[in-house]
Amino acid sequence: MSELVAKACEAMKRAYAPYSHFHVGAALLTKSGKIYAGCNIENAAYGPSNCAERTAFFQAVYEGEREFSAIAIVGGLHGNIQDFVAPCGVCRQVMQEFCGPDFEIHLWNGKEERRYTLAELLPLGFSGELIQD
Ligand code: THU
Repeated sequence: MSELVAKACEAMKRAYAPYSHFHVGAALLTKSGKIYAGCNIENAAYGPSNCAERTAFFQAVYEGEREFSAIAIVGGLHGNIQDFVAPCGVCRQVMQEFCGPDFEIHLWNGKEERRYTLAELLPLGFSGELIQD
């Protein structure tokens, strides 16, 4: 298991998921080598829930980070990792905001790691460059 996946597994233990019971952890690596972790945080009103990936991104951006190289994501029902957990569409769009097409997404199913690029998981993603004056 890579260090980034191990950090995502640690982060998963902090998941607040009393509604879905689906625990997710993420570990985001900056280009300077720092790691920011995140877990999913659910809400009784459902809509305000936040995915693990966005918890990690928003924490990192708040700390002043803008350049990222990879994220590891793990998850499973009641914290049991049994399959790959790919990022939802909203999280892919947040990645698009801060990351280039070569940004790596590392998934772990408890046995093996698979790596994708953002370009693979979000082809033709909408970019903020289009709405600059
Ligand atoms: N979830 C994440 O945190 N990341 C993903 O990539 C997929 C889904 C969370 C949202 C919700 O708290 C729970 O998993 C079930 O959808």
